[in-house]
Amino acid sequence: MKPDRQIAYAALALVIVMALAFARQADAPAAKSITPSLTGRPELCLTCHDGIEEISASHPQEAFGCVTCHGGNALALDADLAHAGMRGGKNPSDFRVVEASCGGSECHSGSAEDQRDHIHRSTTSIQATYAGAIAQVRRSFGGQYSPLYQAAYMLGGLQIRALRTELVTSGKMSDRRFHDAILRQNRIPIAMLRAALTDQPLERGGPPGWRFYGPVPGAARPGTGR
Ligand code: HEC
Ligand code: HEC
Repeated sequence: MKPDRQIAYAALALVIVMALAFARQADAPAAKSITPSLTGRPELCLTCHDGIEEISASHPQEAFGCVTCHGGNALALDADLAHAGMRGGKNPSDFRVVEASCGGSECHSGSAEDQRDHIHRSTTSIQATYAGAIAQVRRSFGGQYSPLYQAAYMLGGLQIRALRTELVTSGKMSDRRFHDAILRQNRIPIAMLRAALTDQPLERGGPPGWRFYGPVPGAARPGTGR
């Protein structure tokens, strides 16, 4: 081969190598950095997880970022490196790691008030394990209680199902919103729950659409002022 040809081939090879390198670089995602206000330390997790929904409205990305809950290496751009040292895999609230992920005196544990120490309350709850949760359901339906007690639970269950048909099956609400709204209302009569979920105004002294069966000894009749 003539020397000038050799040079031409070498130049061509160089151009091809450079073009390939350039294409590869264009392929690689531009790093996306956020600096959550709670830690003040930049994180690059969103380079690959951009667009992920926030875990909840009370944990906005700008304040929490990802590492506060998940752990991992905030500045790594390689998935294995970034995920090394992450807590709990898909679920940082797994009870084996929950204290490190959700706990801490600034967050959900360490309060002197038992009611506000959410980690302690959850991990020591009978519902903390499936065995406990199942036992809890069995206790209510398994025959240790009188049939009336069980029937009351069943009635409540049927009422909630009917409410779900009214609000979710009809497309007015997502399952998730329905579920969260019920948990937020906590233990109140289903009629009140329905009023809250359907934005009905409540009037002081307004008669509820439910009654205890028969007279309740010592109790004033609701809505009558007697
Ligand atoms: C280079 C891209 C990349 C970066 C950077 C990255 N991830 Fe990921 N992540 C992925 C991919 C891809 C998956 C899904 C496949 C897998 O499990 O590896 C994933 C999965 C996950 C999962 C689910 C794990 C599981 O067991 O299914 C969590 C949680 C997660 N990432 C959190 C983070 C956090 C927190 C950071 C920052 C510290 C981070 N990721 C940085 C690419 C990345
Ligand atoms: C307030 C704590 C918290 C923050 C902040 C948070 N996560 Fe999570 N994340 C969780 C919890 C708890 C779960 C498991 C429950 C769930 O999936 O809803 C989870 C689940 C995940 C999963 C697994 C979803 C699946 O089931 O495949 C990925 C991926 C993930 N988070 C990525 C991120 C990234 C990226 C960020 C930052 C933008 C982030 N998370 C911020 C708490 C958090």
